[in-house]
Amino acid sequence: MQLRKLGAMVGAEIGGIDLAAPLDQGQVAEIREALAENGVVFFRDQHLTPEQHIAFAERFAAININRFFRPVEGYPQIAEVRKEPGQTKNIGGGWHTDHSYDQVPALGSILLARELPEMGGDTLFASMVAAWEALSPGMRQTLSGMRAVHSSRHAFGNRQREEHKDGRYQNADQAVQDAIHPVGLKVPGTGRTALYVNPSFTLRFEGWTDEESKPLLDFLYRHAQRPEFQMRFQWREGSIAFWDNRLTWHYALNDYQGERRLMHRVTLEGVPLQ
Ligand code: SIN
Repeated sequence: MQLRKLGAMVGAEIGGIDLAAPLDQGQVAEIREALAENGVVFFRDQHLTPEQHIAFAERFAAININRFFRPVEGYPQIAEVRKEPGQTKNIGGGWHTDHSYDQVPALGSILLARELPEMGGDTLFASMVAAWEALSPGMRQTLSGMRAVHSSRHAFGNRQREEHKDGRYQNADQAVQDAIHPVGLKVPGTGRTALYVNPSFTLRFEGWTDEESKPLLDFLYRHAQRPEFQMRFQWREGSIAFWDNRLTWHYALNDYQGERRLMHRVTLEGVPLQ
């Protein structure tokens, strides 16, 4: 395997490996290490069948079955991230990290590009480790004692279903999860601390009102969006991005109106926080 860094703070490409073949323990350990170090790793030219996609994911953790996205037919483990030519909104078109509303923050997601627009449809990634480390010691100390409330209700509940009558989302009635997580998350198995709030799913700080929380959350979001913490990934069919949801944010660009983009996503269960 060869590792090539793509961004100063986040992202590396791994070459010299065929993910369709069963991975040995050494390969799994190397990928885990690269993921902890870089937040997201990319692989090119991996034209996996759904079975191979699932088998690759299961080498790292159990699969978290997505309740809200339409699954690939016959494969409930794989969520479709689809935008059809007639649709104007995309999925994931804002800074977020997947599943922060789950009781146990999801370890990561493995996204495989199936169909892409002629141009555009790139994904931005940002390192929340870099964002955390660039805060002042005083701010980090304050935030270390705080937790935040995350929710799926506003994103996948009834209001959102009204806005997306196109069948891409399902089970709006199951959007009832709220979860409370540390703001400075010590990410299990990585030895790293990450800023763990995001504009899509975080509602407020625990014990604070929404109004009290907003100015500090707004500051943290502005800070976390600094270009130095980011990289941009240009997809090709068969490209895979495997990111750690706890160490990074991502943002799917919606700059390809009138074209189809179809991705297959498997999300991995995290490990309970201490
Ligand atoms: C996602 O937000 O999980 C999807 C990202 C993408 O489609 O690039």
